[in-house]
Amino acid sequence: MTVPAAATSTEKTSASGARVVQVRVEHRQDALGIGQSRPRLSWLTEAPESWNQEKYEIAVSRPGNQRATKEVPSSESVLVEWPFAALQPRERVEVSVRVWGTDGEPSGWSIPIAVEAGLLSEDDWTASAISPDWDEDRDTDHAAALLRRSFVAGSAVSSARLYVTAQGVYEVEINGTRVGDEVLAPGWTSYDHRLLYSTFDVTSLLREGENAIGAWLADGWFRGRIGFKGGTRNVYGDRTSLLAQLEITYTDGRRALIATDDTWKASPGPITSTGLYDGERYDARLEQHGWSQPGFDDSQWSGVRIARLDKAKLEAPIGPPVRCTEEIAPKRIWTSPSGKTLVDFGQNLVGRLRLSLRGKPGHTVTLRHAEVLQEGELYTRPLRLAASIDEYTLADDSQRVWEPRFAMHGFRYAELTGAVGAVDLGTVVARVHHTDMERIGWFECSDPLINRLHENVRWSTRGNFVSVPTDCPQRDERLGWTGDIQVFAPTASFLYDCSGMLAGWLKDVADEQLPDGTVPWYVPWVPAGTWDETIPGAVWGDVAVLTPWTLFERFHDKGVLSDQYSSAKAWVDLMADRAGESRLWDEGFQLGDWLDPAAPPHDPADARTDRYLVATAYFAWSARHLSRTAGVLGKADDEAHYAQLAEEVREAFAQEYVHADGTMTSDAQTAYALALVFDLLPTEHQRRRAADRLAELVAEAGNRIATGFAGTPAINDALTLGGHVETAYDLLREEECPSWLYAVKQGGTTIWERWDSMLPDGTVNPGEMTSFNHYALGAVADWMHRVIGGLAPLEPGYRRIGIRPRPGGGITHATTRHLTPYGMAEVSWRVEDETLHIDATVPTGASAQFALPGQPPQELGPGRHSLSAPIRR
Ligand code: BGC
Repeated sequence: MTVPAAATSTEKTSASGARVVQVRVEHRQDALGIGQSRPRLSWLTEAPESWNQEKYEIAVSRPGNQRATKEVPSSESVLVEWPFAALQPRERVEVSVRVWGTDGEPSGWSIPIAVEAGLLSEDDWTASAISPDWDEDRDTDHAAALLRRSFVAGSAVSSARLYVTAQGVYEVEINGTRVGDEVLAPGWTSYDHRLLYSTFDVTSLLREGENAIGAWLADGWFRGRIGFKGGTRNVYGDRTSLLAQLEITYTDGRRALIATDDTWKASPGPITSTGLYDGERYDARLEQHGWSQPGFDDSQWSGVRIARLDKAKLEAPIGPPVRCTEEIAPKRIWTSPSGKTLVDFGQNLVGRLRLSLRGKPGHTVTLRHAEVLQEGELYTRPLRLAASIDEYTLADDSQRVWEPRFAMHGFRYAELTGAVGAVDLGTVVARVHHTDMERIGWFECSDPLINRLHENVRWSTRGNFVSVPTDCPQRDERLGWTGDIQVFAPTASFLYDCSGMLAGWLKDVADEQLPDGTVPWYVPWVPAGTWDETIPGAVWGDVAVLTPWTLFERFHDKGVLSDQYSSAKAWVDLMADRAGESRLWDEGFQLGDWLDPAAPPHDPADARTDRYLVATAYFAWSARHLSRTAGVLGKADDEAHYAQLAEEVREAFAQEYVHADGTMTSDAQTAYALALVFDLLPTEHQRRRAADRLAELVAEAGNRIATGFAGTPAINDALTLGGHVETAYDLLREEECPSWLYAVKQGGTTIWERWDSMLPDGTVNPGEMTSFNHYALGAVADWMHRVIGGLAPLEPGYRRIGIRPRPGGGITHATTRHLTPYGMAEVSWRVEDETLHIDATVPTGASAQFALPGQPPQELGPGRHSLSAPIRR
């Protein structure tokens, strides 16, 4: 397992040994071009075991050496309020922090970090958005346009910033060098409400004299085809446009502005067509050498038109961009039965290929992508209407390196045709792309199959966090399905710092919510097929309440609760309205326990558990969480009102779906799992019987899983709560279909959409919806971290950690690490000679409750702790 080395600092430690090792701004990894004028700050402190923060001081140095400091008596170190005057647009300050412990000694000041505001209001934008001045067909994937202009810069540039976005997707070059490393910028947001711009420091790219700036501009989500059943084009508009503002500051304080306006020039380029689903075509014969460099003759280029772009919608990102994060070399290259050259990367991944090739001018190399093979050939039926084909046409016989710019594919295998010469390991590499979130979670245990399952969950997280949290990354869908992320957010939040990305996406959820509170099934919403966005559905719509709560619980972000509060409330009020006096949501369309393995391939909603039981259970759970949210936000009336509502729904649920003896009207795993985990069973007797019945059902099914999207995230917790942790292990360790390890045994390297996406006979499930990269059923990893690993948040942000490993299933050791907002927490345990040994690290600023078998819980503070207890297996 690789974990980052501890952050280092040259700063002084206090007499008591405390050291502030990292200061962060909001949820960003960098603080250039931030969108908040009062950004919240967080820091990590390294200190001796007994140390606790009593007070902190923040210093801000503004230009002109003005320094302000603020001391705050507080033990808090996560997302604390900005204690100074608001930042002005473009203002750059340096921030440092020091802390005092109980001994009254201050630490040294942390290394100052630069915090620079972006353009904070529409008035800061003087640029006009520009589109190429030619007519385009509305009904196809388009060529990518090139846009350029040249300009003169003086000497003594002290800084230069590029603020840029597009209605479409873009890449900018200055003097022939690519600016930054963002991919598919500006990412996908609900463009009718929010369009993100990026800020780049381009100081080092400028030179004295003539300079040139150029941009590639393509359809992306803005007007490219998106959605299933043929999808929709031109969702947000039928012309792409670029908005860019290059601001140069000279050492003597003079400023110059190069902005997109009607003096720019446009031309088609070598990308003759590009689409997210269909792939990219590149004709090197159409390259224009030096087009983004000074001295290029653009006199034959077209002009540009000023495009409409509502600058009030521009926002700085609050999460990281999409980037290439890893390269994977082929594991095997061979010739298929039909004579095709196939490449296996050994891992189902999301990204694209980079080719290194040489060949005859005019020849075309074609790349096809697929997640699986069938009968020895690439199998692309699951991609439905996403062709996923890239093509490169050679201009000459020189050695060339090429990778598509604006396409993205989900694949493990690729087929190369028309390639010239032999394809070998040096010809092709897979470049993994996703939202570049920091990894913060690790898990490893003595069972290699479970470790592989965990890796599969991690790979499905990577592949489906591509600007928005998607259902799948390969077919003609790749949409922000709300139910999928609702069930998966706790797992994702452990593995990666998705706090900024999901907080941003939740804004879109709120913006796209209908006036009656209905949450669209996927966000951003795109018309597709016959899906009706005006119909609300449980599990999916509950994202409005439960996902903000997850972010609060895992990252201690109270801001996300207040930002999402009206959205959450509108959702619960809608359910209350639909349920009426009965408090049962028992009418209308529901997907229920979607993809119960007993449902036929063509009707995934036909589950064993009553769909209205699922809807009412979720109603109770969301009402309870809304009450908790109101409590955190100090809204006492709402807290009481929704607690009362939750109680009424709970009673109605029990009346309607639970028999006096604790068995349920749907005698099915999901029914019991939800009732137990959502605490919907009124009496101790019913809880015990329901838990026993759930364990019986699992045993009767031979430990095969019998739950879909609703039940799967809950079942192992339900068994654990109900005293049947061994049965949870039985389920987890089952290898026959359907089960988690079935896919692992079949060679799966990601989590599948269906328990049997690949059937036991090696053929692909005939359902028209069969992805091999869908994270929802991987939600069990959250249980693995908390119960096998024994590392759970008891208070928001893991400020109080529950350390309670539950050895079982023959597992003899496990190590679980999580970089909490307070620092690295670790639980490592092993069973030896009938004794459980635990070595744990509790970060500074946090505490932990240790619960060992047969012992009363103990509260321990920060530091390393080794404990042991006899165990009976
Ligand atoms: C998606 C899902 C989604 C479901 C709901 C599917 O096509 O891939 O994961 O939640 O539709 O209908």
